[in-house]
Amino acid sequence: HAGSVCVVGSLNADLVVRTQRHPKPGETLTGGPLAIAPGGKSANQAVAAARLGAQVRLVGAVGDDAHGHLLLDALRADDVSTDHVRALPDTPTGTAVITVAADGENTIVISPGANGELRPEDIPNAAFDDAGALGLTFEVPAATVIASAQRAHAKGIPVFLNPSPFRIPEPELLAATDVLVVNEHELAQVLEAFGAPADGSWQERGTALRKATGVPALVVTLGAEGAVVIRSGPRGGDGNHGAPAVTEVPGVKVQAVDTTGCGDAVLGALLATTSGGMGLVEATEVAMQVAARAATVAGAQPSYPHVSAM
Ligand code: RIB
Ligand code: NA
Repeated sequence: HAGSVCVVGSLNADLVVRTQRHPKPGETLTGGPLAIAPGGKSANQAVAAARLGAQVRLVGAVGDDAHGHLLLDALRADDVSTDHVRALPDTPTGTAVITVAADGENTIVISPGANGELRPEDIPNAAFDDAGALGLTFEVPAATVIASAQRAHAKGIPVFLNPSPFRIPEPELLAATDVLVVNEHELAQVLEAFGAPADGSWQERGTALRKATGVPALVVTLGAEGAVVIRSGPRGGDGNHGAPAVTEVPGVKVQAVDTTGCGDAVLGALLATTSGGMGLVEATEVAMQVAARAATVAGAQPSYPHVSAM
């Protein structure tokens, strides 16, 4: 069963056009009809978790405009609490301009709008009440992400960070992160940025990450191939951690229609299941199922499965 989840971050209106292939720089293509769907990485995570039965609270900001109302209505329809989503006057709701090619791959350009106005002081302490997990991504200001992580961490709430759109996370953010969710390429960049060796076995990379940043657990996503879960061993009498445990979780093969929001489906599923007491390996198995299902349906939020269908 799922627990209680808090997500702090972005909401976007997704403006989506399907094309046969992606345009080259300077090229104009004609695509299909425009779809406007609720999105934003954090709102997506919140909806994915709620559909798996979690009680979810989203903290964020929209504009007081038509897109903002669309996003809030969509969240409420999925029983996500929007008590801490502010509607800002004179600021547009965040927007994502998305193209999806015939092979299901997407390109996304976001215009942050109100997401860029979410400040640390907009995060009420009540947002973390009873939360069994916190989800964070990089579509709101860094100071807000860091403050949220630190406050949740101080309360003993497990912090899950998916640094997307990718940039190197700050040391103080990683110090407050319990589970880092990245792909293999991003992991290499984080390790290099912290002066740690980026090659070697999964076990060696897990050890290197923990030593360099303090992050004790890692889910490395491998696309259709699945994911690798790396958890630090307990601290021994000498003060050192034992070798990390590495578990490879196979992917679920599907015919991809639209992979938009599959990463958010993974995070939402991890939040929902671990907050309900599930271990990280089993949670990642569920997350792979959820992401695979999401890839077979157009859109992000519209493609997330309900627990009854899993
Ligand atoms: O991860 C997918 C999401 O990225 C989309 O919903 C879009 O809004 C962007 O935030
Ligand atoms: Na999808």
